[in-house]
Amino acid sequence: MKDQINDDISFDEYDEINNPRDVEPEFNQLADNAISRRGFLGATAAFGASGFVMGAAGLSIGEARAASRLGFEAVEANVLDTITVPPGYNWHPVATWGQELWSKSIPFNEATRGDGASQEMAVGDNTDGMSLFDHHGVNLLVMNNEYTNRSIIYGNRETRLPENADDVRKGKAAHGVTVAEVRQQGTQWEIVKDSPYNRRITADTEMEITGPARGHDLLKTAADSTGTRSLGTWNNCGNGRTPWGTYLACEENFNGYFSSSDENLERTDAQKRYGINIKDWGYAWATADERFDIAKHPNEPHRAGYVVEIDPTDPTSTPKKRTALGRFKHENAALEVAADGHVVVYLGDDERGEFLYKFVSRDKYVEGGNNSNLLEFGSLYVARFEDNGRGKWIELTPASTGMSSQAEICVMTRQAASAVGATTMDRPEWVATNPKRVEAYCCLTNNKNRGKKPNAGGDPTPVNGPNPRAGNNYGQIVRWRPDNADHNSSEFDWDLFVVAGNPGVHSDAYGGSDNINLQNMFNSPDGLAFDANGMMWIQTDGNYSNEKDFSGMGNNQMLVADPASGEIRRFMVGPRECEITGICWSDDRRTLFVGIQHPGEKGDSHWPNGGNTVPRSAVIAVRRDDGGLVG
Ligand code: FEO
Ligand code: CA
Ligand code: CA
Repeated sequence: MKDQINDDISFDEYDEINNPRDVEPEFNQLADNAISRRGFLGATAAFGASGFVMGAAGLSIGEARAASRLGFEAVEANVLDTITVPPGYNWHPVATWGQELWSKSIPFNEATRGDGASQEMAVGDNTDGMSLFDHHGVNLLVMNNEYTNRSIIYGNRETRLPENADDVRKGKAAHGVTVAEVRQQGTQWEIVKDSPYNRRITADTEMEITGPARGHDLLKTAADSTGTRSLGTWNNCGNGRTPWGTYLACEENFNGYFSSSDENLERTDAQKRYGINIKDWGYAWATADERFDIAKHPNEPHRAGYVVEIDPTDPTSTPKKRTALGRFKHENAALEVAADGHVVVYLGDDERGEFLYKFVSRDKYVEGGNNSNLLEFGSLYVARFEDNGRGKWIELTPASTGMSSQAEICVMTRQAASAVGATTMDRPEWVATNPKRVEAYCCLTNNKNRGKKPNAGGDPTPVNGPNPRAGNNYGQIVRWRPDNADHNSSEFDWDLFVVAGNPGVHSDAYGGSDNINLQNMFNSPDGLAFDANGMMWIQTDGNYSNEKDFSGMGNNQMLVADPASGEIRRFMVGPRECEITGICWSDDRRTLFVGIQHPGEKGDSHWPNGGNTVPRSAVIAVRRDDGGLVG
């Protein structure tokens, strides 16, 4: 999700306008020992004055660079309205917003930008997390369609906003998930029209609610007195995939679609904590679908904010909302099978000062067995980071939180985490696990309120631990290694793998850690994934003004990092005003799929078709000219 949405206001800004946080000037605003502490990479690798001294592989930084495992030439920052990849690489679009999935689909109309009927039969908007599944030799590309830029999709309207019920229908259909069979023809990938697997899941698709909160009173509505069936998924941000072949779509800023027809409605504390607001934000869904009106249907927002499990191989299957994984602004879901067979899922709540979570399944994964309900029951934990480089997972139970039931914890998860004193984080975005060693990484994208304002629940945001800078405008990536090399351990070591910054502007903590330099600098790390070689791919969703604090950073970009040496190198620069988000590989690793979200969100892009065309989000394929391995 772009931090800055709808041309002028971000999801977080919108929530804060509606639910202002107190200023707490007594917070310590000095970076503490976390930024000079000895990290996994060696003295001051985490952050500090004298630079990385020793890499984990026993190499000095100079030696590590000489022996770099990054096999491509760095791309320079730029502000071009195109994709820039290293020499020897090429790219082409595969799935573009509005592209037809069936022969009966209506081709994208540049003048109207589509309507409800055309959008329901086409690729959704603003691609985000995605996975490629090989189903008996059939390639299924599953993509989240996170949200829409109203000024783009309603660019045919004078107000650049939805103006009637069909506009709302179009908006709802542009959200959700797209399943598309794709095939390779020579060096090009394309959607297979009319594939029996092609599917659109939208804000109106029937869902099953599973897990501890299934059937709880908080989930019962006028349309569903059982609290077990809901309609739709929306604002699906990052994703996850399971070893049993299902896709996980993560509901992030679900709150922004609700509003109240009674403008004097007194909101509950729980509504305020989750940013359920009175004023409509421009989507206007409540004008055409009453369930988005909280004055009439106060429990409807309790039915969103979950991880949704989807079987991409069965277009008739009902997606399952997994309440056991908690309700919050889910970013992505990084899944590992622990040594003892329990399934561990790391989960971030992307809002200023919210938390990092871990789910551990009650039952064990059995290869070749029926694992379809492993995410239905388990334990939910939240992270507490200590300044000494240690941390622990605190289980959220009625006993630890004082809440009445596990069901209530799974619906009011933020309040549960606040009750146990979890660490407020600088907006946890994607978590990724390293396939080559037992460790995990999380992008903490930025937090202008760090050290200045509490989170929406009033929890302070002290400047310490993995959040070492006040008014953090650049972001950092935290890493943890569970004790006993077991993702099911309750304690861990942590350090900061990289602290983003601008060494051309700042010589203090805002200049970044020592693996940041003028050639690779970036801000606001967001998407994160490992390739099969254990290299880590970092995607950014940051400030692309290329001015002041951000001068020299260019458009949003994708970089590759070597977790062993700490080296980071820029692989790609996106078109203007885009965010790079979503990444997966073909099974032969000769194609890398990358998502380009919201190009032209402020009106200065015509990517991908150029000329005077409407800018359109798209998944692209990146390949080497010689057909070699990518990543
Ligand atoms: Fe959808 Fe937190 O990004
Ligand atoms: Ca972001
Ligand atoms: Ca994101």
